[in-house]
Amino acid sequence: MISLKGKTAIITGGGRGLGKAVALLLAQEGVNIGITGRNEAQLKTVSEELEAFGVKAAYEAFNVANEADVKTGIDALVGKLGGVDILVNNAGIGKMGTLENMSPSDWEEVMRVNLFGVYHTAMAVYPYLKKKGEGDVVNVASTAGLKGGAGMSAYAASKAAVISLSQSMMAEWRKQNIRVFTLTPSTIASDMSIQGGLTDGNPEKVLQPEDFAEWVRDILKMNRRALIANGSIFSTNP
Ligand SMILES: NC(=O)c1ccc[n+]([C@@H]2O[C@H](COP(=O)([O-])OP(=O)(O)OC[C@H]3O[C@@H](n4cnc5c(N)ncnc54)[C@H](OP(=O)(O)O)[C@@H]3O)[C@@H](O)[C@H]2O)c1
Repeated sequence: MISLKGKTAIITGGGRGLGKAVALLLAQEGVNIGITGRNEAQLKTVSEELEAFGVKAAYEAFNVANEADVKTGIDALVGKLGGVDILVNNAGIGKMGTLENMSPSDWEEVMRVNLFGVYHTAMAVYPYLKKKGEGDVVNVASTAGLKGGAGMSAYAASKAAVISLSQSMMAEWRKQNIRVFTLTPSTIASDMSIQGGLTDGNPEKVLQPEDFAEWVRDILKMNRRALIANGSIFSTNP
């Protein structure tokens, strides 16, 4: 396994949930961290927690659905941190509802945040990785993207699209030594899953954000010749 010490990671949606857990664990590996989200106060607090691990930490607040804001925010973070090696494309929303009850604008918002957010952020980080001739992009999809279900049409469609986008990205960018990982986690205890009524979050049985973070850390630490292109993680016996 390789060391991640001294590398720099940008994690979207790093202020809470899965993104925050990944940020904290990578910081413990000596990775400098840039986090993004919309809630600036939350980002500031997490940024201070990250600095306590002795790494550089920075944050930028922007909506991942807005291409211009993503570009400005990513450029600002790279400037503050002095570069970027790893992108964790994690920000997303879990707006659910039946086809009949969900408005077209809600449906569109899910696509804009979950799909275009991943696309805009990857495209903003790509020039830096390309110039460096090396890098990692972790795209967080969902098992919902592998198979749709009742009450989740927009979310499932957005995550199915993220899987396809990410697989195409992998095929194109591996030629530049950029590893693109397409992750499809099942339910993990977080605001999204608990408030959405998907789980009670019981830590004795249900995946926790820390489990997801360990998975991300471990695949990033594999020798650079090795790429876990696609993977799922499930609670063993929820
Ligand atoms: N938890 C699960 O069971 C599960 C399972 C499979 C996949 N996932 C995926 O994992 C990722 C993280 O989910 P989570 O469970 O940690 O969710 P969460 O607790 O609801 O956190 C979502 C994160 O995304 C950010 N975010 C949301 N909309 C944004 C926007 N428009 N612009 C910028 N940032 C935005 C939030 O930032 P602010 O707080 O600043 O708004 C927050 O940090 C999502 O892509 C989700 O679909 C989750």
